[in-house]
Amino acid sequence: MPASRPTRLVVLVSGAGTNLQAVIDACADPAYGATVVAVGADRDGIEGLARAERAGIPTFVRRVGDFTSRGHWDLTLTDTVGAFEPDLIVLAGFMKLVGTPFLERFTAKVVNTHPALCPSFPGTSGPADALAYGVKVTGATLFVVDEGVDTGPIIAQTVVEVADDDDVESLHERIKTAERAMLVDSVGRIAREGMTVFGRQVRFG
Ligand code: GAR
Repeated sequence: MPASRPTRLVVLVSGAGTNLQAVIDACADPAYGATVVAVGADRDGIEGLARAERAGIPTFVRRVGDFTSRGHWDLTLTDTVGAFEPDLIVLAGFMKLVGTPFLERFTAKVVNTHPALCPSFPGTSGPADALAYGVKVTGATLFVVDEGVDTGPIIAQTVVEVADDDDVESLHERIKTAERAMLVDSVGRIAREGMTVFGRQVRFG
């Protein structure tokens, strides 16, 4: 990716958007090397969209239920995101799987952050699943999205300890604190240095 202009990010969210906020805040420094050009969601009325609006970033919503098929939704999402000419698409708490057309259009340009240490505990309840299993450490994983559920090549991971008195909420909040730092650090490095994917190996630069 060229260093001469900020890397164009499209961020997709489904909820509170604290990871999005961390990236927006990082982008305020020109030295970070990236700018959020749009924020998209699969639902209305979420804090993630409000965060983008407060920052003056264009937003869009594409709800699966408004389309005749999942494939049609995916094609429309692909075109909508593509219109913003992103260099990198960040799924930050986006609770939908993107489909083949999306991934073919944006090959190796879609990254997702997951609140567990992949390949453990994929899916939508990573912190709860880790707690139920009784692991002593868990964390978050940033990966390049592929066709599977949280199976793509790993860019970065961060580890947090599980406390004896953790519930799902306290554990997820501790994970998210580490996750935001990992996301900001990694997206900045991708923006400034680029990212190379060889099979399952991912390197900055
Ligand atoms: C984050 O912990 C993210 O990893 C998780 O949702 C949270 C969103 O928080 N995503 C998934 O579980 C996807 N499988 P945020 O909306 O405050 O950024």
